[in-house]
Amino acid sequence: MSIFEEIMSNDNSIFRNQEIFNIDFFPETIQCRDKELKSILINVKPLLNNSKVLNSILMGKPGTGKTTVIKHALMEIEKHTDMKTCYLNCNIQNTLRKCYSQIFKVLFERNPRNNVGTEIIQVEIMEKLEKESFILVIDDMNYLSPRDSSKLINELFRSTEFYHLNMAIIIIVNDISFKYSLERNAQNILQCNEIYFQEYTSEEIYSILKYRCELGFKKGVISDEQIRRISEYTANYSGIREALISLNLLGQKIESENRDKIENEDLAERILFT
Ligand SMILES: Nc1ncnc2c1ncn2[C@@H]1O[C@H](COP(=O)(O)OP(=O)(O)OP(=O)(O)O)[C@@H](O)[C@H]1O
Ligand SMILES: [Mg+2]
Repeated sequence: MSIFEEIMSNDNSIFRNQEIFNIDFFPETIQCRDKELKSILINVKPLLNNSKVLNSILMGKPGTGKTTVIKHALMEIEKHTDMKTCYLNCNIQNTLRKCYSQIFKVLFERNPRNNVGTEIIQVEIMEKLEKESFILVIDDMNYLSPRDSSKLINELFRSTEFYHLNMAIIIIVNDISFKYSLERNAQNILQCNEIYFQEYTSEEIYSILKYRCELGFKKGVISDEQIRRISEYTANYSGIREALISLNLLGQKIESENRDKIENEDLAERILFT
């Protein structure tokens, strides 16, 4: 049997579902963030009665669950209400034009024409928004240039002065000093509910990783004690994203060596001292 055939025909995987360890995997259950999820939902609730909402800003270091929680909130809102939602990620929508184009696309279900100026797209968006209840999430906003983020905040937050809007804006940043990078007028206008995502404790990381390991690995592949050790290390020296990537690599290594469980030496080699 060739190596190719051996690898491809091996269905004795130690993984129950390897996708669980992908960092873009969206977990059905979110642990330890009930308080933050509640705050987000309470903040957008007035939209249901066409009442005025205060916009929100979610802040926290990388890997503290901001994107996971907001996506969960949007999913629930879409499932249970007829509010329209738009999720922007400034790693992708990394210019003002791309942000407005994406909002346009969500509202009109088509791309804006290339030769149309951004100001015209903006007006079309605002006119459409007068007829909709809308939640706009701008994730990773600190990846926009300070000039673009200042402009976007100014234009969006001040739009209620010119249009009759039923809109909630939720900004997400992983840099607490974000506000101070903005131009002065944007800083002044950015009056928001601030929701902080504190770093996870070792116990919280344990419950998140335990859940992933139970779904991702077959029984007996990793012990409870090993998950605890990884959680402690993660809380002190790295982050959940790194822990998930390491668990995935570790699983692959064990599998490629035809072993059926993780040994403590593997942890020392792959996670604890990387
Ligand atoms: N409370 C949680 N429950 C389950 N999984 C979580 C939780 N928090 C984080 N994760 C997992 O950790 C990883 C990082 O989380 P997430 O992307 O939400 O962090 P973030 O705060 O948005 O980070 P960044 O600022 O870098 O964008 C994801 O794979 C996510 O599934
Ligand atoms: Mg994020």
